[in-house]
Amino acid sequence: MQHLLTLFELEPHDLVRILDTSLSLKNRLQVGDRPPILERRVLALLFQKPSLRTRVSFETGMAQLGGSSLFLGEEVGWGKRESTSDFTQVLGQFVDAVVCRAKRHEHVEALAKFNAMPIINGLTDLCHPCQAMADVLTMKEAFGETKGRHLVFVGDGNNVAQSLALISAMLEMRFTLACPEGYEMDSDWLGQVAKRYPNAQIETVNDPNKAVADADAIYTDVWTSMGQEAEMAARREAFAPYQVNKSLMADAPSHTRVLHCLPAVRGEEITNDVIDSEQSVVINQAGNRMHAQKGLLVWLLNREWIDLNVG
Ligand code: CP
Ligand code: NVA
Repeated sequence: MQHLLTLFELEPHDLVRILDTSLSLKNRLQVGDRPPILERRVLALLFQKPSLRTRVSFETGMAQLGGSSLFLGEEVGWGKRESTSDFTQVLGQFVDAVVCRAKRHEHVEALAKFNAMPIINGLTDLCHPCQAMADVLTMKEAFGETKGRHLVFVGDGNNVAQSLALISAMLEMRFTLACPEGYEMDSDWLGQVAKRYPNAQIETVNDPNKAVADADAIYTDVWTSMGQEAEMAARREAFAPYQVNKSLMADAPSHTRVLHCLPAVRGEEITNDVIDSEQSVVINQAGNRMHAQKGLLVWLLNREWIDLNVG
């Protein structure tokens, strides 16, 4: 059974096909065409953490494709009322796929283990694959071709950074993380990326100003992710020199685009004058969550449609 837990489940050509499908559906939506490709299919959203973009983009995307979705919060008692085995296999009797946002990556892996239905990772502490797909779709729209582009992530080597490093390797982009010492990406994760993509161009540096000198895209995310609130004060201090502000932007080429997965803490990792500037694509990027995920859902649940309509 096909799951999407990390993006390692996909070959680069699968990813390209999903993105082509996403763009084709986005173009069709812009002229009012909402083909019912997943008519009567049902997607469950099983979430252990808050969400605006991931939840709403999956729910609206599914509705536009002719299917429906149901949101499962704390009250279903995942991990509390019954065994994961019973929980997952019973859910598989009802729904066609599950999007899961979990506190720990192992929780999502535990769901996928039963192969009761495709499981899509809607964010874990390890990675955020759906976010990365929307991000490269946004870069594709901004630059036409993503191959050879330089994506510079300024901030924490977190779940979002880790997915971006992997997707950059898949699409032959350069990826640089500029972070303070102690906040690098997980070395096991980077080892897996290097093993699968030996030509990957991934670098970790400490100087954000040097890193952005030839950036095509500058990306940032919160300094304190969900679940790390106890470390907030220490993180504020460590990341202070890593703010994406006018002074950092002055060291980057004028064509550089600014991305942020949102939600942002304006005034911390990014200033208002940058996130609201002409160079910022964050709103289109957030909108692309839905388009990218529609491509993914069709690829998971009705690949025949892609064969016939996208090629
Ligand atoms: N970027 C993102 O995943 O946003 P939400 O937490 O609102 O879903
Ligand atoms: N790194 C952030 C991303 C939120 C979309 C977090 O995990 O909270």
